Amino acid sequence: MPSSRPQSEAINRITKIFAFPISAYDALVDQFIKEMDEGLQQENRMPMIPTFVYELPTGEETGVILSLDLGGTNLRVCRTTLSGNGVFDIIHQKWTISDELKKGPGVELFAWIADRIEEFLSNQCQSERPEGEFPLGMTFSFPCDQQDINVGKLINWTKGFRGQDVVGKDVVKILQDRLDAKNLRIKVNSLINDTVGTLLATTYKHPGCEIGIIFGTGTNCAYLEDQKEITKIKVGAANYESPTGQQIINTEWGAFGNASGALPTNEYDTAVNARSSQPGKQLYEKMVSGLYISELARFVIHDLAQKGELFASASGKPKTDAELGDLAIKERFDGAMMGSLEGDESETLTVIEQHFQKTYGLATSQSDRETIKAICQLISARAARLSAVGIAALIKKRELLLQSKKVIVGIDGSLFNKYPGFRRHLEGALHEIFDPATVTAKIELIGAEDGSGVGGAIAAYLSCKHQGHSI
Ligand code: BGC
Repeated sequence: MPSSRPQSEAINRITKIFAFPISAYDALVDQFIKEMDEGLQQENRMPMIPTFVYELPTGEETGVILSLDLGGTNLRVCRTTLSGNGVFDIIHQKWTISDELKKGPGVELFAWIADRIEEFLSNQCQSERPEGEFPLGMTFSFPCDQQDINVGKLINWTKGFRGQDVVGKDVVKILQDRLDAKNLRIKVNSLINDTVGTLLATTYKHPGCEIGIIFGTGTNCAYLEDQKEITKIKVGAANYESPTGQQIINTEWGAFGNASGALPTNEYDTAVNARSSQPGKQLYEKMVSGLYISELARFVIHDLAQKGELFASASGKPKTDAELGDLAIKERFDGAMMGSLEGDESETLTVIEQHFQKTYGLATSQSDRETIKAICQLISARAARLSAVGIAALIKKRELLLQSKKVIVGIDGSLFNKYPGFRRHLEGALHEIFDPATVTAKIELIGAEDGSGVGGAIAAYLSCKHQGHSI
């Protein structure tokens, strides 16, 4: 039955559904700390993956290094020149990863990556080849069980990738074999997560940074932990003895809440999770990151349209799925689009009007447009608040506010860098969790400059250093 409710009622209802009250922060922060601690003590909890990276750069590292950055949306091949004094220069080439590659066999994805590296080498590195093998740092933004700095078995895909054939396999070896078959004389000498890259790259420029975070297509965090706290590493294991007494941990915090049910999920979260490629996994990520919040927004808009609360004709008749086109199809509404709709500041919301007209052929009323904007705002503001919960948990867990220096948090990712208002909401939420004076005096959020590319190069540098090779 079409609804005769005024639109503002829809907004009120969605506001209640996506509400995240200030009173919810403390318990959630404590639960987050608990799940991180459990993950350091035992398997099958929040992954808290030891990375075999035992130190942060000083900023004085120098050399020309290749890196590869496989994220959720793009592949980049980069050549970074580290000049010391925190200065670097990076050139890169970027390709969008097609849906076919994401959802097809993993071996085909890796074959494609090797082809792109070859293309980059012939375009950008002809004059600069070292005598022997070119070291390459691989930044791979998916959970891997690392067995050494250059060995990591893919635990599972996230962000809609599907190639089951490579799950459980060492992704470095798969790539290395492909490169060797092409005789490219490249040695993949390190494997890091993009959050580790963000941490390394931020520290290179801003010594003292201890936390690296991605708020992009997916979300995750890496930080420097005391080796003695990582009690799930067994005495005598390869990475038991850290030369520095510390080790970077890739938290894979997207898994927060999977087992505990601690997250304040609503009916829309439940539906998006059930329809995702991995139901029951990455529950925190599904409320926080760009891929899923845009899918949540699409899902809510589609639901209201089906109820006749959006895009209804004068008769109040709801639109059919055929009339709604891409709006009725999973993941056909991306984070950049959601950000531009939310960022529409015009009085009549013309960006929203034109987008719905051009993309879906749907006419919107002013009230439709206000509802759509409110949906985007509510979902992204909740995402920012939940993001602050993760940051606050790590700061509290590591007791970083007790240090005399500032807590530097390096952050990268499209949500943080480009989504209108996300950073403001995130900072606002930190003010709500701690107090504004503490946040201003003691916590600095720094936008990482190309964390994955530069971080991959620094990891390759550190790996060469540990093996006693020069760059
Ligand atoms: C992956 C992480 C990655 C994050 C940000 C998540 O889906 O599991 O490994 O760091 O996305 O790219």
